[in-house]
Amino acid sequence: MAAPKQLKILFVTSEVVPFVKTGGLADVSSALPQKLQALGHHVRILMPKYGAIDERKYKIHEVVRLKDLSTEIGKNEVIFSIRSSFLVGARERVQLYLLDNKHYFGIRRSLYSDPITGKDFPDNDERFILLAKSVFELIKKLGWVPDIIHCNDWQGGLIPVYLKTLYKDDPLFQNVKTIFTIHNLAYHPEFPKSTFAKTGLPENLNSPKGLLNGNKISFLRSGLLFADAITTVSETYAKEISKKKEYSGNVFDVLKKRKDSLYGITNGIDTRVWNPETDKIIPKKYSVKNIANKVENKKALCEKFGLKFDEEKPVIGMISRMYDEKGFDLVQKSFKEMMKLDAYFILLGTGDKKYHRFFETALMKYPEQFSCYIGFDDSLAHLIEAGADMLLMPSKKEPCGLNQMYSLVYGTIPIVRETGGLADTVKKFDEKTGAGNGFVFKKYETKDMIREIQRAIKIFKDKKTWQKLMKTGMKSNFDWVKPAKKYIEIYKKVIG
Ligand code: GLC
Repeated sequence: MAAPKQLKILFVTSEVVPFVKTGGLADVSSALPQKLQALGHHVRILMPKYGAIDERKYKIHEVVRLKDLSTEIGKNEVIFSIRSSFLVGARERVQLYLLDNKHYFGIRRSLYSDPITGKDFPDNDERFILLAKSVFELIKKLGWVPDIIHCNDWQGGLIPVYLKTLYKDDPLFQNVKTIFTIHNLAYHPEFPKSTFAKTGLPENLNSPKGLLNGNKISFLRSGLLFADAITTVSETYAKEISKKKEYSGNVFDVLKKRKDSLYGITNGIDTRVWNPETDKIIPKKYSVKNIANKVENKKALCEKFGLKFDEEKPVIGMISRMYDEKGFDLVQKSFKEMMKLDAYFILLGTGDKKYHRFFETALMKYPEQFSCYIGFDDSLAHLIEAGADMLLMPSKKEPCGLNQMYSLVYGTIPIVRETGGLADTVKKFDEKTGAGNGFVFKKYETKDMIREIQRAIKIFKDKKTWQKLMKTGMKSNFDWVKPAKKYIEIYKKVIG
């Protein structure tokens, strides 16, 4: 079948800004669909309606014909509804559907884990079986049949396998293709063998040819095996995960096998949300033309975080989920050294409880040098991007990373480890030639990270060079249009 000019795309995701966000997936899930729609395609999004989503604020309403739908999880019948809303703050009007089931989503504010224990919800298998199955019930009810179902991360991993098994004989789904995007391989749960029965899949898939990873059930594996094409969010990460086992662990075999169907597409950024010239959240707007205004944001940032403002002393910001993968074991190990540097350090994020405790203690130990907010707060993220001088991302692995791109366009120079999307977007600054846009270290070691931070601090003192570096960053073009076009190419390729 030749691909139609205007594609119909159902984008299934577990988080979307500003409704809920734990990581960059939420940003991509708003920005990419908008761009696809702007390029003339028809996009609709499906996500769960968690308790944390504000129904009134986002004008979420019922749709009579999408009420009280039913499906099974194992032998149990589950009733759910699909509610309707639209993307927020978008230039394009993009339809958003929300999967509504009180028990699995509505009564929980948290997305994947219990906020008190920090442990994953024990029924995450059932919750995301429901998300996958609801896709098919939704399409049936709507009669709107997508050309492509774009699935994201393990939460959408069962959709491709359902399409190729349970729904394969349904004439409605004959021409539907699936794309599976890996946003991060680091966090994917594996379920006990008893999960298999709940999926309702044919028994032959209760094996490594299907969902079995070792002796555990993996939805991610199913997504990787059964999707018509796999994408991930940067070119370097695509190479890393298909060539090195340390990057993809126990799905390495699948990725190696499917490497011809794996594409790396580096994310863009939503330039309407992340633009210092128009950003309504920050205290003082600025651009390449009035770069001096940035310092007002630094003042506000220092004040907000209780640090004494000093124009000559650089502020290093960090905005990240606090996990080993993101470089937190390195930061913890290097912390004493970091506190000896002539710079402030400001941190925003949540994650592993052990890091919450570590930084809470550090707050008391180094009140004049370090400050942090443990939690997620979008306006603080904007303030840090605008007010800091540098942004640290020392990730061990980084599929793409968005904050380094936000920071570049805010004239906040990134200090990153050379991996994944960080390697694709930040090039080491060379003092002699003036090439490069940031600070980059290779080895995942304290010594290497500290050395590169020191180099950044030194260059910061040279105002002229630093301004040039800021301008280089601020002029970068990370518009979504290019990546969105690449997605469209892949959609068309799988359609035939
Ligand atoms: C995940 C990854 C991050 C990526 C984002 C969006 O959060 O950890 O690197 O930028 O997804 O694709």
